[in-house]
Amino acid sequence: MKIVITAGPTREPIDPVRFLSNRSSGKMGYAIAAAAIEREHDVTLISGPVGLASPDGVKLISVLTADEMFAAVHAHLEGIDVLVMAAAVADFKPAEYTAQKIKKDQQLTHIALVPTRDILKSLCDCEKNFHVVGFAAETESVAENALKKLHQKKLDLIVANDVSRIDTGFESDDNEITLYFRNGKISTFSRSSKQKLARKLMVIFETF
Ligand code: PMT
Repeated sequence: MKIVITAGPTREPIDPVRFLSNRSSGKMGYAIAAAAIEREHDVTLISGPVGLASPDGVKLISVLTADEMFAAVHAHLEGIDVLVMAAAVADFKPAEYTAQKIKKDQQLTHIALVPTRDILKSLCDCEKNFHVVGFAAETESVAENALKKLHQKKLDLIVANDVSRIDTGFESDDNEITLYFRNGKISTFSRSSKQKLARKLMVIFETF
């Protein structure tokens, strides 16, 4: 199977020393990449900036911004069987990049933001001859919000996690996930290491 996995956060630069980002460590996406390699799949890992070593055998594409991740995903769709978007892509970026470090005495009171392009939504139905898996990072109404994303982004499967918890979700070694399939099926995998969950997910991706 040929699989593309995204992982980690993106960074949206404000000036040469500051950026907007989020708490994603990349652990979930890297665990999925490692599980795919264990099963001898052809794995491309498109990663935002993280402090993790790429699993041996993975083709690593490093990106920084949501725009770079957008371009990298679109450049690696040819002939794939599954796309897994575990990355926490920034939803907003600064409207303008300031080329010099913004000085404290400039009395900056706000930063104007614009939305980034949604990578999953940008995948045209006509070119989607592969399965698409999204993740939903939620802090409330997890099921409702995940199902909305499943349908709006036209996914085969969305993997929901509650990122308001400290023992799972962002940064933690563990996660607890609920899978919402396009056909209405729902499965919950209780708290476990991201490695173990990634192996379970891989079995599901293989039987799409
Ligand atoms: O990296 P860890 O510390 O291990 O944490 C794991 C995780 C919490 C980051 C991971 O399990 C997870 O939930 N990843 C998705 C995070 C996210 O951005 O969720 P979202 O609900 O905001 O986005 C929904 C989906 O749309 C995601 O698959 C996302 O990759 C995708 N998206 C989002 C924005 C955008 N511009 N384009 C996208 O395609």
